[in-house]
Amino acid sequence: MKVELAKSAGFCYGVRRAVEVAQQAAASGRPCVMLGHIIHNNSVIEALEAQGVSVVERPEDAPAGSAVIIRSHGEGKAVYDALQARGAEIIDTTCPNVSRIHKLVAQAEAEGRCPLIIGSPSHPEIQAIAGWCTNAVVLDGPEALGDWLAADPRRCRMPLAMVSQTTSTRERWERCIKKAKKECTNIKISDTICNATCKRQAEAQELAARNEAMIVIGSRESSNTRRLAELCAALCPTVLWIERAEELEPSNLYGKASVGITAGASTPGWIIKEVYDKMSEENMEIEESFAEMLEKSI
Ligand code: F3S
Repeated sequence: MKVELAKSAGFCYGVRRAVEVAQQAAASGRPCVMLGHIIHNNSVIEALEAQGVSVVERPEDAPAGSAVIIRSHGEGKAVYDALQARGAEIIDTTCPNVSRIHKLVAQAEAEGRCPLIIGSPSHPEIQAIAGWCTNAVVLDGPEALGDWLAADPRRCRMPLAMVSQTTSTRERWERCIKKAKKECTNIKISDTICNATCKRQAEAQELAARNEAMIVIGSRESSNTRRLAELCAALCPTVLWIERAEELEPSNLYGKASVGITAGASTPGWIIKEVYDKMSEENMEIEESFAEMLEKSI
């Protein structure tokens, strides 16, 4: 069986940075907690908990004297204010690409524009971005943008500023831009899709187009993994989305001559390796070059 691994599979630099900062904080021995999961991967969170970094849900739950780690998806301004009011030390692992969006929306509002945030309303990154302005409108895609504008024609003439979730697909975002340019007379558009995401999605599509099956490894909570699975499903008849190696059902790959593997931005290299090991144990005849690819990617 020919098995190809996407070069970009696994941690992006923002996630790698967040995990390293949290691991250093844990190793320092000083008391610290995570405010929410710092990345969307339960295995990584469990490993940090085993090192003594527990998860708290709200700033007020952080024990006095503990440093508080802010997750890679970022937090709204009110959370920073609450932590500062409690005198907590903040260890900020917000991805710089996300911090940039916080500044863009805050500045847009200060200039009198209404921020339009294109992304999933329930995703922590989007909630955090909305928390840097007072009147942001969150819309989950081009259809929602069209409906919002159509609901009140005066909106098309308002000063607006549009940004996107870092993990949106380029195709959805382009459709939003097209709609906005057609309907709105005063809109500032900032392209905030992360380059690492674009590259990962493009590679996943290339692999999905030329292989008989795709394995997508990543958490069910991870929106960038979900996008990868959706993009692959549009091009490849068999897509297996798994969180860990034990979910891989080898019979789903019987008879496939070629398999592509990609992984979400918050999937650690050791989980990719686990999948490889399981496939080897199942006597799948994997080409030797795959082990080399794996070495390079983790
Ligand atoms: Fe940052 Fe992009 Fe990763 S926004 S957390 S580098 S997917």
